[in-house]
Amino acid sequence: MNKIKFIDKFGSFQCENPDLVNGLYFPLASEVGLKSAVTPNLGGDAKLDQNHFLMEPVSIENLHNNRSTRNFWLVTPNNVPWSVTGASVWQAADRFTDKKEQMTLEAGFMWHHIKREASFQPLTATITSFVPYWCNCEIMQVAIKNTGKEAITFTPVAAIPVYGRSADNIRDHRHVTSLLHRITVHEKGVVVNPTLSFDERGHQVNDTLYYVLGQEGDGSAPVSFYPDVESFIGEGGNFECPGSLLNMAREMAQEMEREMADGKTQPLAASVPAGTVINGQEALGGLVFETVTLHPGETKEYTVFTGACQTEVQWKEVLANFTGSNDVHTAFEKNKAYWQEKVNVAVHTEDETYDMFLKWVCFQPELRRIYGCSFLPHHDYGKGGRGWRDLWQDCLALLLMNPGSVRDLLLDNFRGVRIDGSNATIIGEKQGEFKADRNGITRVWMDHGVWPFITTLLYLNQTGDTAFLYEKMPYFRDRQVMRGKELLAESTSNYQGTVLEHLLLQNLCAFWEVGEHNYILLRDADWNDALDMANERGESVAFSNAYGKNLLDLAKVLFKEAQKGVKTVELLEEISMLLEESLYDDAEGKRQTLNKYLEACKYCVSGKTMQVDTVELAKNLERKGQWILNHIRKTEWVTDGEGNGWYNGYYDNSGNRVEGVYQKDAEEKQIRMMLTSQVFSIMGGTASKQEIESIVKSADKYLYDENCGGYRLNTDFEEVKTDMGRMFGFAYGEKENGAVFSHMAVMFANALYQRGFAKEGYKALHTLYRQAMDVDKSRIFPGIPEYFGAGGRGLYHYLTGAASWYMLTVITQMFGVRGEDGQLVLEPKLLASQFKDSDTDGSHASIELTLMKKKWHIEYVNKTGAEYGEYEIDKILLDGADISETAGFTCEGSKAARKAILPGDLILALDETNVHHLVVTLK
Ligand code: G1P
Repeated sequence: MNKIKFIDKFGSFQCENPDLVNGLYFPLASEVGLKSAVTPNLGGDAKLDQNHFLMEPVSIENLHNNRSTRNFWLVTPNNVPWSVTGASVWQAADRFTDKKEQMTLEAGFMWHHIKREASFQPLTATITSFVPYWCNCEIMQVAIKNTGKEAITFTPVAAIPVYGRSADNIRDHRHVTSLLHRITVHEKGVVVNPTLSFDERGHQVNDTLYYVLGQEGDGSAPVSFYPDVESFIGEGGNFECPGSLLNMAREMAQEMEREMADGKTQPLAASVPAGTVINGQEALGGLVFETVTLHPGETKEYTVFTGACQTEVQWKEVLANFTGSNDVHTAFEKNKAYWQEKVNVAVHTEDETYDMFLKWVCFQPELRRIYGCSFLPHHDYGKGGRGWRDLWQDCLALLLMNPGSVRDLLLDNFRGVRIDGSNATIIGEKQGEFKADRNGITRVWMDHGVWPFITTLLYLNQTGDTAFLYEKMPYFRDRQVMRGKELLAESTSNYQGTVLEHLLLQNLCAFWEVGEHNYILLRDADWNDALDMANERGESVAFSNAYGKNLLDLAKVLFKEAQKGVKTVELLEEISMLLEESLYDDAEGKRQTLNKYLEACKYCVSGKTMQVDTVELAKNLERKGQWILNHIRKTEWVTDGEGNGWYNGYYDNSGNRVEGVYQKDAEEKQIRMMLTSQVFSIMGGTASKQEIESIVKSADKYLYDENCGGYRLNTDFEEVKTDMGRMFGFAYGEKENGAVFSHMAVMFANALYQRGFAKEGYKALHTLYRQAMDVDKSRIFPGIPEYFGAGGRGLYHYLTGAASWYMLTVITQMFGVRGEDGQLVLEPKLLASQFKDSDTDGSHASIELTLMKKKWHIEYVNKTGAEYGEYEIDKILLDGADISETAGFTCEGSKAARKAILPGDLILALDETNVHHLVVTLK
């Protein structure tokens, strides 16, 4: 695959010969349920959900192994058929010779376009694939052009296998479920209506129709059909070498010889007419179009619709809405514009490729909203939906791109919090719908309580809407009580508490739930899902930092509320137990305190509330937060004996410290360092500036890998540490065991920026970008993958929390544009090298976004090309008017004005329709 070339300002790109890379896939989806993945030769799959797969489910290895793709053939007399998607045995055989067909791929948000030139005759095919956002139907628009000097006769045949059942049946009852199929051939295609659906819910009456329909550019129907796999592939054949089409090529030749016809003869090769019904077979959308003779320079178009729906009316509607190619072209443009508008953030820096890469990063949270954490080929786990922490972190991106709808969404998400501070882990289809874990599994991830406040704080800052804190919401109540330690027969409660109370419970319950070293218990894992084998004695110091910071930030919010006149806040009476102030140093005493509270709430709560003095509450939280951070500072700093130091982040199930220097054998020492521990000690404020310098030095020495995207998640422990988690069973350098795991690498950058280490933060972000865009190594399309594996390859592309954090970091830290209690803050941390030189007035970097309901174009002008740390904000123009006097410039750590605060009233007064230009001059 050649380098990626961007072709517009929306991130659309082009690349040559992506069929020479394995494992490439691209997402296409609608807003109403259909989720597809397409590969460069149109393999992949399509599904509505776990139980409704239109095409056979694929995971990554199937991409090279499966033959069932969205194929489209041209059959010519006496020749092997040509697959315009490149999926034939003959093209495969040529792929590594000089007969390889040239292909070009172009793609943008939710559209995919390939162009292929036949090697044995002068034909060019283009195939545009998209799913209109309003309907559950993949559209494949094929155009064939005769680029030669003579007429060419061919018969086009679309061939798309219809799986039409639950993913569970890929092995479990694969054959038996094909017996459920009722296949009807209609005028324009094949519709599969299974009688029953066999899935984890048992045997249900099927409610879904699966179809493959097609027409020519002018709307003409196909002439005959292959509705089942068997008749199409023939004995001894397969999807890449279909016996029926080889017969068809022979038939065509005979017919032409006999009649000297002008190409109008129609070969049938065992295809069947409309009206045919076939039952109990593996189904195929095999559509044979009329044989055509294409003269030099002529083009002919075909459209194939592959979809799923509930009623006959719905698939007929698709045909009614798309009467010919014109309708398809119009829908394509409408769809393209829809998705481009979703990404309303753009940056302009010295590196245009970076700016375009960011477009994809900003689009990725949309993809995760749709696909959840499942349903792309690498993501062959889960059954759709997202986990709790993903739900909250994806809201960060929504707050940055589409803040309008977020208030209700956030509020509804609090319905998932239990009165014991734990939360539901199965997230329902509808907003605010949570379910008890299937099969009564009581898994508790100790980090879950951290994320809601991080997201809420961003919301409060961006909007100033502190009334949100006092909205009342019910708690999630199921059989699980005592923070997952006990299951009741049943349990209900109508008690509703404020958002603030939900947040306090999440953070306070964690504060008291400590292990023998007085750090918060790891329970069944923290952010790193694969730290899942230390649920008795394991402790996460890493996330103790995060809880400590949350308690401090909650205190700050409350101090401000008190200043605004909120004298008291209403809390459930039982919570007074969690506000206890003694026992901080006594781990056992702490656990007892928590237990007292949990017992009190086990069956039901009193429902009685108390008024708590806001300032007293804030001070209480502050003392708790400080205690955690101090405890870490005192006990967890480790060194390598060579002047480098970092923070330990874990205790294992044997009660031992995890990070530091280990004696491997008599001679050799082994360094154990984990990135997560550093991220949260920096972000939490635990690490001093001096310590951060030391951490960065250690990370550069022990974790950084220039050729693999930057900072690895951990050093090689060379041990299957069964007292820590399954991650140690993974090969080193892969996934949660020492890969460059984008999410944590980005959070490292974020933490560094937050603490003023812009150069270091930039390095962490930039190496990820460089790796991703170096397609020879990463072998992915633009965007940020979940991680880079040992060889530097990008894996689990598209669906990753890293994207939201990357956006957040670029906007609120690198460009420093963010809200603070409803005021607009500008605190650029751009490096001098990121500004683009202009001939007239210094160098420039700008960002376009919507913030506080206003549309902005914010431009930084670096007059002298000064570096971050040296430049200060000199002047601010708002829509041409100098507002430097209105804006308060604040200093941080030095005399320079690094940060400007634009007052809330100024922002409020601006209109919401026009783009407002802020020009910020740096000197
Ligand atoms: C994934 C999960 C995330 C988890 C992480 C580490 O990360 O979605 O919840 O914390 O693995 O185990 P992501 O793919 O979002 O980057």
